[in-house]
Amino acid sequence: MSEDCPCERDAEEPVRPSIYTDERAEIERRDVAKLLATAGGLTALASLAAPLAGLQQVFQRTYTGPIYGEEIPLVDADGNRITTDRLAEGEQMTVFPEPRPGIGDAPTLLVRFPETDYGGETNMAYTVEGYAAYSKICTHAGCTVSDREDETLVCPCHYGKFDPTDGAAVTGGPPPRPLPQLPITLASEGHLIATGDFEGPVGAGGE
Ligand code: FES
Repeated sequence: MSEDCPCERDAEEPVRPSIYTDERAEIERRDVAKLLATAGGLTALASLAAPLAGLQQVFQRTYTGPIYGEEIPLVDADGNRITTDRLAEGEQMTVFPEPRPGIGDAPTLLVRFPETDYGGETNMAYTVEGYAAYSKICTHAGCTVSDREDETLVCPCHYGKFDPTDGAAVTGGPPPRPLPQLPITLASEGHLIATGDFEGPVGAGGE
């Protein structure tokens, strides 16, 4: 594994609250393709050189179709459903909507903190057992929010910062709005499911 390429990290390992780059730091070509296919309503204008070479692909798109829906399971990169013991408090991982006809991967940040840590703009009705989920696509220019400093989610392209305990509110850098939150709950079988789609537009634009 190259030490310079965070995209090569093990996609399955939850990541800890130190300075790091989490799994899937780079949206690979196939991920972008799947994102766009997801939409049937996502359109890409360009894939441009990223400010930090090798870290991110930057793209712009317009979201018009649902990614998640009611009772859609959240799954890891191998398609395994996420049970409540998957993350310890303070950890995070990248999840996706369980594949179904007409839907592709859509990277989503799943975080877990003590319930008492949440406040501010967090929609608590969208959280369950300390878990909260947000779009992983930066609202500034569409990079993946792949880094973290302590509890702060960081987009490496222009150092946008988001507070996952405050509804992913912007705490630094140029992003114009928070990462949209995904409503989640527990299925009777004990795994995490969505109860709807993201509460706002995914990615850049969508003001
Ligand atoms: S794309 Fe610019 S801060 Fe994320």
